[in-house]
Amino acid sequence: MIIDCDTGVDDALALLFAVRHPGLELRAVTCVAGNTDVDGVVRNTLTVLDQAGAPDIPVARGAERPLIEPARPARHVHGQDGMGDLGLPAPARRPVDVDAVTLLRREILGSPRPVTLIPTAPLTNIALLLRTHPEVTRNIERIVFMGGTAGTGNATPVAEFNVWHDPEAAAVLLTAGVSITMYGLDVFTRVVVPGADVQRLRASTEAGARLAGELLAHRPAGPDPDGDDPSGGLGDAGAVCAVADPAGLGTRRLPVEVALAPGPTRGQTIVDRRPRPGEAEIHGGIREQTLVDVGLDVDVDRYVRLYLNTVEG
Ligand code: BDR
Ligand code: CA
Repeated sequence: MIIDCDTGVDDALALLFAVRHPGLELRAVTCVAGNTDVDGVVRNTLTVLDQAGAPDIPVARGAERPLIEPARPARHVHGQDGMGDLGLPAPARRPVDVDAVTLLRREILGSPRPVTLIPTAPLTNIALLLRTHPEVTRNIERIVFMGGTAGTGNATPVAEFNVWHDPEAAAVLLTAGVSITMYGLDVFTRVVVPGADVQRLRASTEAGARLAGELLAHRPAGPDPDGDDPSGGLGDAGAVCAVADPAGLGTRRLPVEVALAPGPTRGQTIVDRRPRPGEAEIHGGIREQTLVDVGLDVDVDRYVRLYLNTVEG
């Protein structure tokens, strides 16, 4: 598997899990502008992999802005440094000297087995990859992306941040003809680690587990974001749990389209849950749409236990 991320508090949680899970082989990590600027994302990603004891996984710098619009970092959520301003050390190494798209192509086509790609960020790198090197799809098993929503948004009332940040890139992914699982806000917000577990992690003597605890305590996704409750959402890490243990995610195969028009719906993922297609589709007006396995239900306890067992070893 390969993770494309914008580290990011919860992207960091995803990396800590991915390097520890015995059933997952993390071949590479690619970085894109999102929660913070791309150089900050690279720095944060390398630091997290250092802390996780994974200094050999190649990390590449990718797009510094979305395809059309300027970057709009989420510092109000992830702090000035994109990592909760935890004061983490500078990384001990540099990214590889090829760009993210080149590394993605090399790792996907060089893999002896089909690769699962896990974007936990705006989809700019993935769109550039699919347009520049479409042949990669022959060795992609599935793309499990964190993004979108079938209901309420977070960046806007209807749009989720990763899709909203680069809607055109999300549209490229959704029409690429690959197998896609959407791990959207409908499940993303539900997987919360209880405060007692977070406190235990924070007290761990092991660096990776301790960092996971600090990140979970920072993440303002728990039931009481402004209070003292240290419970914290797994966020992007849930998408990696869904790759490690797909049975914990309840999905439905549905048409998904991204709203691209300017205005209040831009970046919305329109998930068609109607039992039958409407008039326009029946009479040939259907647009290019991919059927996506949309995550609508999640076994919260199962993923929390999976995460803790993996990160605490
Ligand atoms: C997504 O946006 C980012 O802030 C998080 O890292 C996550 O990938 C949630 O909408
Ligand atoms: Ca992210």
